[in-house]
Amino acid sequence: MRWIDLGTQDAPLLLFGGPYSNLYALDALLEAGARAGIPTARMICTGDVVAYGAAPGETVARIRAAGCTVIAGNVERQLGAGEGDCGCGFSPGSTCDRLSAGWFAHADAAVSAEDRAWMADLPGMAVFRHQGARYAVIHGGARDVSRFIWECDAEEVFAEELAAIAEMVGPVDGVIAGHAGLPFVRQVGGATWINAGVIGMPPHDGAPATRFAVLEHGRARIERLDYDHAGARAAMVAAGLTQGYDRALETGYWPSEDVLPAVLRVATSDRG
Ligand SMILES: [Fe+2]
Repeated sequence: MRWIDLGTQDAPLLLFGGPYSNLYALDALLEAGARAGIPTARMICTGDVVAYGAAPGETVARIRAAGCTVIAGNVERQLGAGEGDCGCGFSPGSTCDRLSAGWFAHADAAVSAEDRAWMADLPGMAVFRHQGARYAVIHGGARDVSRFIWECDAEEVFAEELAAIAEMVGPVDGVIAGHAGLPFVRQVGGATWINAGVIGMPPHDGAPATRFAVLEHGRARIERLDYDHAGARAAMVAAGLTQGYDRALETGYWPSEDVLPAVLRVATSDRG
């Protein structure tokens, strides 16, 4: 797996995942970064530029023009390799499997050959130094790009990932990951694990705002991203992407909990 070294990055960094073809969210993120005085050269995306949303081609074009660092997500791996599904590893026939069939076909038809070549060439990992600590940026897991890692996972899960990362790029003090869609910061195994969340879909909490992270003075914090979610949903409806992720942009609840551990599921009776 190819990885890149971003050198020393002591100034604040904006970390984000999962634009998910949601151009409205990406534009809001770029504006939030500009307001915070963080140039796009110090913005790092953990992958899945393309997924559920209406504007795959435009979202790729915007992030490429902005010049952010992008790590390959499973979707970039699949589209770059010309595969016929998102590579999330959902069981055949599961709700996620059926939902992904809708958006993946839309994305597959919208992405150009040149964008696929860009995706195929994306690094699988990045490392950098910040305020004396060394960090690695990955998508899901170090070896399995589609591994879901949750805040509630056992310490062994994180230890295994940290060991795999150390084998590949040397030891790190912190990890920045994405893929799973729920942001968190956890001290585990002598390292800081930061899931920067995703900007293209709310974190299954009943509100439309999404999340990103800022790493500043050696500390990571999760930030809310408010954006024109109604516009993003309308664009999905206009594109015929009405399998459920469109509603999730407004309700804040994912259309399927298949991938979520039991403790992170939200009972229907608890939904507002
Ligand atoms: Fe992913």
